[in-house]
Amino acid sequence: MSTQREPQVVRGLEGIYVATTELSRVDGENGRLYYRGYDIHDLVKYGDFEETVFLLWYGHLPTESEYDAFRKRLINYRFLPENLIKMLPLLPQGTIPITAIRTFLSALAAWDPWAEDNSRDAELENAARLTAGIASLLAKVQRVRTGQEIVEPRLDLDHASNFLYMFTGKEPSTEASAAMNAFLILYADHGFNASTFTARVTASTLSDMYSAIVAALGALKGPLHGGAMEAAMRQFIEIGHPENVDAWFEKALAQKRRIMGIGHRVYKTWDPRARILRERARVLAEKSSEPQWFEIAERLAERALNHPYFQERRLFPNVDYYGALVVYYLGIPPELYTIMFALSRVAGWAAHVIEQHADNRLMRPRALYVGPEHREYVPREKRT
Ligand code: SDX
Repeated sequence: MSTQREPQVVRGLEGIYVATTELSRVDGENGRLYYRGYDIHDLVKYGDFEETVFLLWYGHLPTESEYDAFRKRLINYRFLPENLIKMLPLLPQGTIPITAIRTFLSALAAWDPWAEDNSRDAELENAARLTAGIASLLAKVQRVRTGQEIVEPRLDLDHASNFLYMFTGKEPSTEASAAMNAFLILYADHGFNASTFTARVTASTLSDMYSAIVAALGALKGPLHGGAMEAAMRQFIEIGHPENVDAWFEKALAQKRRIMGIGHRVYKTWDPRARILRERARVLAEKSSEPQWFEIAERLAERALNHPYFQERRLFPNVDYYGALVVYYLGIPPELYTIMFALSRVAGWAAHVIEQHADNRLMRPRALYVGPEHREYVPREKRT
């Protein structure tokens, strides 16, 4: 009699391949990342966020005319619907920023005539509206919640610079624009991370782009994923001064406390994005009045990299470790960091929704039942 093999449960789907993708390749052993075959170092060195988004959505780097037309499309969507803007002040005082963004990003669908159309062309428009819209939304939500005048978008600035302009009310420096572009390029896509996989599962039911993006934003919020960038910055602030790093590190080890921004499910060496953001953070720190945060991060990373506990588990700084410093030096408060992550990853999520809809298979894994079997039903009056 054939003995049926006990199904194997792989917790967290660790190492399991559930689909193919042409969007990004994460080489965890060698610490390399490619978008549609292009090394992220080249995309950061020579291009901007608009070019990377075009590459993810269309599969090739844009020609001059394609780039200009694409940039104009995104610029148009920087302007949010008037009635949506009127909704911004209506949430209770003290609403956490990601709740506001999750609410208003979802509401954006109501103004999108193609929101329920899953064709490629319609989803490319949904994607442009969401990618440009979330940046304007974050800037406006932040201005409203901090009692500042809303700043209208500019037509002459690229996506990264326009966001900083709308957020701060001032035109960003060349270094700040370059750092913001690098940040947005590096966070754009990263294989089947938890939030992207959430978007794919949602899209696999043939649900729409907006539902998939809002679901992904919910997954990103968790501290083991997109919430780690805020947690990393808060730990640097908790340490307070480079002199405190050693004692803090020893105490964290003793308490088995996770150091946020360290470790990765796939990278078993430096996250290549961390290396690039580290240099951007260094430049910004040198020009800022608060260089201590970069010094704290460097000293803490050095302690972890040289400690057997981290070496044995191949735990290295990940994108969030230095991404946190870059956005801090750009003047963004920590409570907005997960949304900063989403400002970029929305482009990757959208690309994955389009890829899923192009060759769909409903995602429906199994769960091994380990609960009680065959229990007799006892009428309520007889239950003790
Ligand atoms: C992102 O998936 C992606 O691609 C995500 C992302 C993307 O671009 O989308 O790259 C973005 O989310 C980056 C990761 C951000 N999260 C953090 O920085 C949170 C801190 N990191 C850890 O929680 C952890 O490293 C994870 C969640 C990132 C990955 O963890 P795994 O693969 O599930 O590994 P694990 O939790 O099973 O840990 C293995 C061991 C454990 O110790 P032992 O049980 O062997 O004794 O390593 C330890 C863990 O306790 N460990 C850490 C640690 N991370 C893992 N110990 C101290 N500090 C840490 N940061």
